[in-house]
Amino acid sequence: MKRNAKKIAVFCSGSGTNLEALLTAEKKGRLGAVVALVVCDNPGAFAIVRANRRGKPVALIEPARFASRAAFDRAVVAVLKKSRIDFVVLAGFMRILTPAFLSAWRGRILNIHPSLLPAFRGAHAIRDAFAYGAGVTGVTVHFVTEELDAGPVILQEPVAVRLKDTPDSLEAKIHRIEHRLYPEAVRLFAAGRLKVKGRRVVITKSKGDK
Ligand code: GRF
Repeated sequence: MKRNAKKIAVFCSGSGTNLEALLTAEKKGRLGAVVALVVCDNPGAFAIVRANRRGKPVALIEPARFASRAAFDRAVVAVLKKSRIDFVVLAGFMRILTPAFLSAWRGRILNIHPSLLPAFRGAHAIRDAFAYGAGVTGVTVHFVTEELDAGPVILQEPVAVRLKDTPDSLEAKIHRIEHRLYPEAVRLFAAGRLKVKGRRVVITKSKGDK
């Protein structure tokens, strides 16, 4: 990894399979960035075990220890500064960050959502798409703005919901896509290849492209 590689912080609250995919991509030299910190708000999250196994530093910041959301966010900002983080990658982070934090880091926070946004926003997108009877759902990687699940779309990929699917099989299909799409989006961003133009994100060519 180059000495000037971008440093990212991955924020997780749960299982951390996307964290694992990002760490695997980093190890294979395919992330174009270094996971310098894992930020977690849940002491029981399996993501912490995954980070420990890879020798990655974890900042466990428990909301209950803070008097307000603003105080929690100030603690988050402090660890990001200390680790000289360039950008933030939300991977199953179940807390809503304050507008002050989001505007300070605007354009430097990515999120992955398990639906084709703007369909099925919110915390239960896979379950909601299945219950709705959608024939197609998918995965969206987007920039985070003050409005929940509504920032400019970086990458999207559809997945068919078959009659034989169950919520579990649909979740497995979505995760498979996520684990490929998220490292790809991080790689593009770290390489400076994502340009936001209004609602659209333009992926610029790499230097090797004709
Ligand atoms: C993923 O489905 C992601 O799209 C959503 O939260 C889930 C996190 O899963 N934001 P994991 O913790 O990475 O396994």
